[in-house]
Order: sequence, then C-alpha cells, then structure tokens
Amino acid sequence: MKRIVVLVSGGGTNLQALIDAEKCGSIKSGSITCVISSKEGAYALERAKNAGIPSRVVSRKNYDSSDSYTNALLEILTEEKADLIVLAGFMTILGEKLIKTFENRIINVHPSLIPAFCGEGFYGLHVHEYALSRGVKISGATVHFVNEIADGGPIIMQQPVAVLDNDTPETLQKRIMEQAEWKILPKVAELFCADKIKVENGRTYILE
Ligand code: GAR
Repeated sequence: MKRIVVLVSGGGTNLQALIDAEKCGSIKSGSITCVISSKEGAYALERAKNAGIPSRVVSRKNYDSSDSYTNALLEILTEEKADLIVLAGFMTILGEKLIKTFENRIINVHPSLIPAFCGEGFYGLHVHEYALSRGVKISGATVHFVNEIADGGPIIMQQPVAVLDNDTPETLQKRIMEQAEWKILPKVAELFCADKIKVENGRTYILE
C-alpha cells in the first residue's frame, strides 16, 4: 500500500475527490496518510479532519527563505515516508531540492489543457479568465508530474471540457472541476500507486 501525501492551500475539493475515491475503493493501491496545507485555516484542513486524516500546516511566511521552506517540507515528507505527493491546489512553488528528491513521484492537477494557460501566474481562477479572454471553445484539466519548470513536467492524463458562450470564470472553473479534475486526479493517483505509469524521455505511458 503506497503512502499518499496531499498538499493543499485552499478549498480542497480535489482532496475531497481523492478521499471519496479511497473510500469507495477506486483508489485501492494507496492511502492518504497526511495532508499538508500551506495556509492556516484552509477549508481543506476541515476535509482532512472529517476524514480522520492527520494534517499539518507549513506556511511559507514562517520561513525566511525558499530554501528553508523547502527543507522543512522535505523533512516532513521524508518523515511521512511519502511514496506519492499530490499537489491538489497547492499554490506555493516547490524548491528544486524537493523536486529532485521526489522525481516522478509528485503529481499536480492543473485546470487547463497544458500547454495552454499554464506556467507562472496561471493558477486558480486566473487560468479560466485567460481561457475565456482568449475565446477558446475547449478547455479542461491536466494531471502531470512535477519537474523544475512550472507546469512543465511529463503529462499523465488530460480531460477536455467544453466552454459555453455564457461561461464566467467561476462557471467554467466549476465545470472543469466536476467533469475533469475530480475524475482524472484520483484515476492517476491509483495508476501511480499500482505502478502503472512509465516515464520515458519526457513522455508517460499507462501500462495495461
Ligand atoms: C483547482 O482548480 C486546481 O486545478 C487549481 O486550483 C484549484 C484548487 O481547488 N490549481 C492550480 O491552478 C495550480 N496551478 P481545490 O482547493 O478546491 O482543489
């Protein structure tokens, strides 16, 4: 059984999707053992508590440098014996040392079809504002491995979602969460825990 540590910063609906998937057995090769929030008071912490999952807050503002923040996270993740780290709406950039230590063991869910609307500055509702201002007809979500380039790691799974004429950033965000993020994130977590994802030359392959 793989140990899954979920990193959050906000509402935690993706965390909830993972919790529900574990509860109903669609995640069966791993278990969420810890939730780490970068923000005190994040609703995601309530979700962890309600599910009986231990949680900790590691806030960037309590550390004087990016390096000391990275070291603190690294220490906890090592202590937790994390096999898989899931960034589920985690809004703080991870240091290179951590990314290297957990190479191809950190996944992130991003609310667009990468390489559209991704990279620095593209997070949360902003992603959907950009998508609407560009007038795309299709958006969606991507789950990818994390490397040192923001949203630049190997893509594992994508799910397209239609953009409607009367969409606002909020309605588009909600539809992408419901139809894409909450579905593909738990799927990828299970595939990873069942050792079914192979990475080769920057591409991933799902093993049958
Ligand atoms: C989600 O839409 C997630 O894809 C996005 O933030 C939201 C978090 O919601 N992440 C990013 O933009 C990362 N670049 P949640 O806290 O309810 O899961």
